[in-house]
Amino acid sequence: MPQINRRGVLTLGAALGLTSAASAALPPAAWSWSPAGSVLGTGSGVDPQWVWDDTIDRIMASVIQNGQVPAVNEAILPRVDNNDPLPTGLPPELSAYLGDAVKMPAWADMTKLRRAADFNRRKDTYLFFIYGLGGGIMSTVIPREAKSVYWSKGGADMQDRAAKTFSFGYDLSDLNAFEPSGQFVVTSNKTRMVHAAVRHLLPQSPYWKAVAEEQIPISNADILVTFHSTGTFAHKKMKDWGVRMSAADEEAFLHSWQVALHFLGVRDEYIPATWAAAHAQSAQVLTPILAVTPEGRELAEVLLGLTAQVDLGVTRGFLNEFVRYTLGNEIADWLELRRDYASAATIRVGWPAYIAFREGLIPVAPAGFYVFDQLLRALAMAFLNRGQDGQTTPITIPDMNRPG
Ligand code: HEM
Repeated sequence: MPQINRRGVLTLGAALGLTSAASAALPPAAWSWSPAGSVLGTGSGVDPQWVWDDTIDRIMASVIQNGQVPAVNEAILPRVDNNDPLPTGLPPELSAYLGDAVKMPAWADMTKLRRAADFNRRKDTYLFFIYGLGGGIMSTVIPREAKSVYWSKGGADMQDRAAKTFSFGYDLSDLNAFEPSGQFVVTSNKTRMVHAAVRHLLPQSPYWKAVAEEQIPISNADILVTFHSTGTFAHKKMKDWGVRMSAADEEAFLHSWQVALHFLGVRDEYIPATWAAAHAQSAQVLTPILAVTPEGRELAEVLLGLTAQVDLGVTRGFLNEFVRYTLGNEIADWLELRRDYASAATIRVGWPAYIAFREGLIPVAPAGFYVFDQLLRALAMAFLNRGQDGQTTPITIPDMNRPG
């Protein structure tokens, strides 16, 4: 596995648009991000890699040990909207927990969340690309995440797994996400239950144990890392690409992620209050840990293969080059993405023009505009997977690991 050195971090930081922050954070050191930069403004300063989600972790361990996973999955299936009643027939402590877990944090601001919803709608194309091909593929070079995803139950069916993860992004981006008629609060409750189940199950996998650095997966630090590979990365990329965002838009976009992190069980003392604090945290926790693993390489291959197989004229070479354009040469080389120089040239010229046209900066659609729209459609068809009833793939609690 290529280990990343100081020069590597700098090159990678530059590719991801994080150079100055990354160099400030070198060498990767003990947790030193100050809780003064958090939404709470204060905190214990405990390293979040030692913080999990104690209450729901204990409850889900007991659900699994008592063979209640199928019953719980059946009970939670009809609960979709934020204002749907709590399911009946759940173990009492899970019921009590879920009743509590729908409460918005005191610092949530509905005005900002509504603005975030509108922002997500206006910028959905870029976000779709950045989350799908940027964050989605970056997750494969985050070793802890790649190994957890690969060796958990869902790792054996990445299309289904990716479709469920897209549900999260889709529900978060929905206009009503946090309103009673939206679905995000319920989706994040379910995700939190899944993560708790994985914390109980993965340490029983001989395969995961043989390769994992940590003893219990999905700590608060790991979740923050994922936020930076998606939300923080999206913020940076949109700025780099010249996507228009007002200060209020940027703040609202961050706020929807802050509330999302809270609902995923991240303690408020770790949730960055500003984009500056988020980028500083990202430089500490994300950039230095990026590395390729056999699991990550295989996951990337599966994910890109699924998109390329949707036959809309988007070739695998084009896809490879779009990932390379978004994540940089170093990550693309780690993942051994075959070069396609003609596609690379099309993207280098066409993507800035595509954005300029969409942002209303040039009046006429540039040549090659359709290729990016086709790529968007291929991504949606491969992963969004919305059924005829308009519902996304339901999130269910796993009861086993990947069998091998
Ligand atoms: C499951 C989202 C962080 C590992 C899920 C699911 C969603 C999700 C929506 C349910 C879909 C499914 O069951 O496949 C998120 C978000 C995160 C985050 C939004 C942070 C912002 C992490 C991290 C790890 C991780 C940091 C590991 C280090 C997993 C695993 C599953 C899962 C192993 C279960 C897959 C299975 O069913 O076997 N996550 N996740 N997640 N997540 Fe996360």
